[in-house]
Amino acid sequence: MKKTYDLKIMDREVLSQEVFKILLEKPADMPEIIPGQFFGLKADDNGYPLLRRPISVSRVDANSFELTIKLVGQGTELIYNKKIGETINVLGPVGNGFYLEEAKKNSIIVGGGIGISPVKELARVLKNKFNDDFPVLLGFRDEPFDLEDFSLYSSKIEIATESGITGTKGYVTTLLEEHLKENEIDTVYVCGPHVMLKAVKLLCDRYNVTTQLLMEERMACGIGACLVCTCAIKEGTEIKNKRVCKDGPVFYGSEVVFDV
Ligand SMILES: Cc1cc2nc3c(=O)[nH]c(=O)nc-3n(C[C@H](O)[C@H](O)[C@H](O)COP(=O)(O)OP(=O)(O)OC[C@H]3O[C@@H](n4cnc5c(N)ncnc54)[C@H](O)[C@@H]3O)c2cc1C
Ligand code: FES
Repeated sequence: MKKTYDLKIMDREVLSQEVFKILLEKPADMPEIIPGQFFGLKADDNGYPLLRRPISVSRVDANSFELTIKLVGQGTELIYNKKIGETINVLGPVGNGFYLEEAKKNSIIVGGGIGISPVKELARVLKNKFNDDFPVLLGFRDEPFDLEDFSLYSSKIEIATESGITGTKGYVTTLLEEHLKENEIDTVYVCGPHVMLKAVKLLCDRYNVTTQLLMEERMACGIGACLVCTCAIKEGTEIKNKRVCKDGPVFYGSEVVFDV
């Protein structure tokens, strides 16, 4: 059974009109947090909304960890309204995170929208592991956010914006294809909207490059019990419904069946 914790909000920062970060204390007995894992946040102590909101970890320190959150609806708004010094109940860390045991230096990190958040922690961990910076390709609709933090973990950041406000105008896949054309790439780690995950997977398939995708599905229990969060995964010749919260949220692109 996953443990829950009441954690103090140590800091809070608003990054844009719709994105903010909170820094939570990390208890000594909390298991190691792997990039790509998430927490189920109880948005309010009064019991409504009932369901925990899944939020990925965007950075881990010795005594704290950070969550980067986009304002979407009631749950995230209640979390936004919490003040420094207040506590929040969290369940986790949950899920399997990115598979890094066989990580290779010639890999690329890709994030899009609020999906840049978990790949920031990934960039930090890979930089520490290899003592080198990984290329980080980030896609935004318009104004980018959190770039100052990203620059701590990679000097190889490239930006694509749909509006063209900064960086390359268009999608992050344009940046990725340049790398795939020019270099031998082992793995592309990616988090972002569904449509971006699919586009990255299809592109990497063309170049025979492995992908690891952090999948997002609507969740209810968040611990593998209710089957609300399933996605279609290939296992041999069969297609099975796997739970994003328990069997994921990270899956190899070769397993994920889009459009079923
Ligand atoms: C594994 C995982 C990691 C995530 N990491 C982050 C993150 O780091 N930062 C961030 O801002 N958002 C993240 N999300 C999305 C985030 O969970 C939703 O935006 C949030 O739950 C919306 O809650 P709400 O009450 O504000 O919105 P509402 O739309 O009112 O939520 C209604 C219900 O739908 C669920 N829901 C709505 N959107 C999503 C969604 N995209 N994914 C899953 N459930 C959803 C809510 O949990 C809730 O049960 C993640 C989702 C998953 C599955
Ligand atoms: S949310 Fe219940 S099984 Fe995943």
